[in-house]
Amino acid sequence: MGCGTSSASQLETRGLIYIYYGTTTGNSSRLAFQFASEVRNLKFIPKIINLSEYNPKELISQKLNVFFVSTYGMGSCTADTENFDQWLFSEERNKNEFQGMNYMIFALGSTNHEHYCEFGIRLDKRLEQLGAKRICNLGKGDAANDQTENDYQQWIHNEVQQTLQLQYPLYTCEQGQLDFSIIKIKITKEPENLLSDNLDFMAQKYINSITFSINEIKELKLQPSRGNSTLFLDLFNQNIKYKTAYNIAIYPQNSDSDIDELCTLLKFDKNMRFKIITNQKQPFPNPISIYTYLKKFCDFSGLVSKKQLIELSNMINQKELQDELLHLASFEGRDQYQNRFQNSKENLLNLIKKYQIKTLTLEKIIEICPQIQPRYFTIASSNQKHPQNIHIMASQFVLNHERLGLSSSYFRTLKKGDIIRGYLQPSKFKLPKNSKAPTFLIGIGAGLAPLRALIQERDYYLENNQFEKCPFQGEMKLYYGCKTEAEFLFKDELKEYLNSGTLSELQVAFSRKDPKQYVTELIAIDQLYQHFQMDGILYICGSIELGRDIQVKIADMFEYFENTDPYLTDQKIRELEENSQILTEYWG
Ligand SMILES: Cc1cc2nc3c(=O)[nH]c(=O)nc-3n(C[C@H](O)[C@H](O)[C@H](O)COP(=O)(O)OP(=O)(O)OC[C@H]3O[C@@H](n4cnc5c(N)ncnc54)[C@H](O)[C@@H]3O)c2cc1C
Ligand SMILES: Cc1cc2nc3c(=O)[nH]c(=O)nc-3n(C[C@H](O)[C@H](O)[C@H](O)COP(=O)(O)O)c2cc1C
Repeated sequence: MGCGTSSASQLETRGLIYIYYGTTTGNSSRLAFQFASEVRNLKFIPKIINLSEYNPKELISQKLNVFFVSTYGMGSCTADTENFDQWLFSEERNKNEFQGMNYMIFALGSTNHEHYCEFGIRLDKRLEQLGAKRICNLGKGDAANDQTENDYQQWIHNEVQQTLQLQYPLYTCEQGQLDFSIIKIKITKEPENLLSDNLDFMAQKYINSITFSINEIKELKLQPSRGNSTLFLDLFNQNIKYKTAYNIAIYPQNSDSDIDELCTLLKFDKNMRFKIITNQKQPFPNPISIYTYLKKFCDFSGLVSKKQLIELSNMINQKELQDELLHLASFEGRDQYQNRFQNSKENLLNLIKKYQIKTLTLEKIIEICPQIQPRYFTIASSNQKHPQNIHIMASQFVLNHERLGLSSSYFRTLKKGDIIRGYLQPSKFKLPKNSKAPTFLIGIGAGLAPLRALIQERDYYLENNQFEKCPFQGEMKLYYGCKTEAEFLFKDELKEYLNSGTLSELQVAFSRKDPKQYVTELIAIDQLYQHFQMDGILYICGSIELGRDIQVKIADMFEYFENTDPYLTDQKIRELEENSQILTEYWG
């Protein structure tokens, strides 16, 4: 690292710390960036790397590595972590290959899922097995009840801070090296360049994303209201290649009214353009105008981080208010933090207004705000039927009495002909290996999306007299749950599929009709048993609660028909999952 010589430009440091993250919805990357700024305060030199860009030699040779990794599905890692996962768990790794490496892991997951933080747990065991030394206990962040941020802070407070300070003493180093990942901006008259190179992983992903024009956008519910709306979007791109049951990730944008408000409060000229000066990869393309940066890249409406609270507290003169923010950021203030941010969902803009912050600079905003993350949607169309079009069904998400979720409010501004950006990715749904197997589709609300795609797939082959090529040659039935008749999405289309024989059965449960009925009440255990006996496949899409209720049904089925001990039913269900006879897509 070239430290140790003495000159006027020397600084004290504790050395390099490599921070790796693997993410789908952005929580791990948010915490990785937050961690970088926290350890920078402890005089480390952080380097943040997405796990899709890991370099095996660099990773093994580094003395101190930190991992922020989330779990998806049955203990799986995220898509960006798959190559690393394969490399790490390959039999080619030697027992002591990682000797000399110290590591810490913060595993993200949700106790709503069965395999809580399992990828982080597996990673922890594997690194130890390969000779690396765990210097802090595994941290776990529970997204259920929005506890991730508090869990993270507890981990930092109880495990990390002291260990890092004790085990990594300060030494002298050339000053330039501490600027390793500090970002500066320079005002410029140069035109915007949204295709600039040397971008970091997330910015590159944005640039590489696909553009779609909106062919159609409409409300699907008959009596929509705030928070009770499902939009249908038909997205067109003549060059796309997707598979039925893929996901699409869409980049939302901030609203012009929020941008104007922020610029007025902070006295920014939104048309001003700037360049980023950094010795790391660029966090977003530039030169760029303040408007474009705030519109497309800066997440200033999401969960307020404790790092943001600390930074804002430095910009307040009134001691009482300063202390209030510092308390919210502290370990002791975690309940209040939970209340104001995780529950009431105040955002950075609210804080800037409330605390009359005037000195927040653009440079600081770039440092403390994460990049806008794409939102995932399960594609509701078959690629056979609509090769150049992607359909999605987007339910509106309400944050609090005044705000909708970011993509929910973004979608409200869109109209036919507008262009949006996104990328495609496989989902947990797979087409059957055995095309003769019967399929049983169960979904609620917008969870109809991937089920509709599968129905369309079968319909395509039936319509085109190519049934022998169809992946769904067995019977296909759909059980659907929604609140009322007015929320029976694609009612006419589904009835049409029933009439034409594409669907062999269609049953609908209305949970707000008198008498109310839930979709799980439609499912009889003998019917389920018969289905699995015929190697049938069960596709479920919707909430985790729906998944749990169906699991209870399947457990009852095993107890009744196979006399399975209750404590063994989980194992049986897992076997069905591993055999791809139960395929689920939950969004929470
Ligand atoms: C694999 C997958 C497939 C999906 N498919 C579909 C689909 O087909 N249809 C569909 O409707 N949805 C789907 N979803 C959900 C969808 O991606 C979005 O999560 C949902 O639409 C809400 O997005 P939003 O941008 O409106 O809300 P967001 O802005 O993302 O807000 C939602 C989350 O962020 C938190 N949050 C946001 N702002 C704040 C704040 N200021 N303070 C505290 N917390 C905050 C909220 O608490 C909440 O947890 C899917 C999700 C996944 C993971
Ligand atoms: C489709 C889906 C599947 C998930 N599966 C699991 C799981 O099996 N185990 C778990 O602990 N958490 C699971 N989670 C929760 C995520 O790991 C958690 O929300 C995490 O904070 C996401 O981090 P990320 O934003 O960095 O991807 C799942 C979340 C989603 C949306």
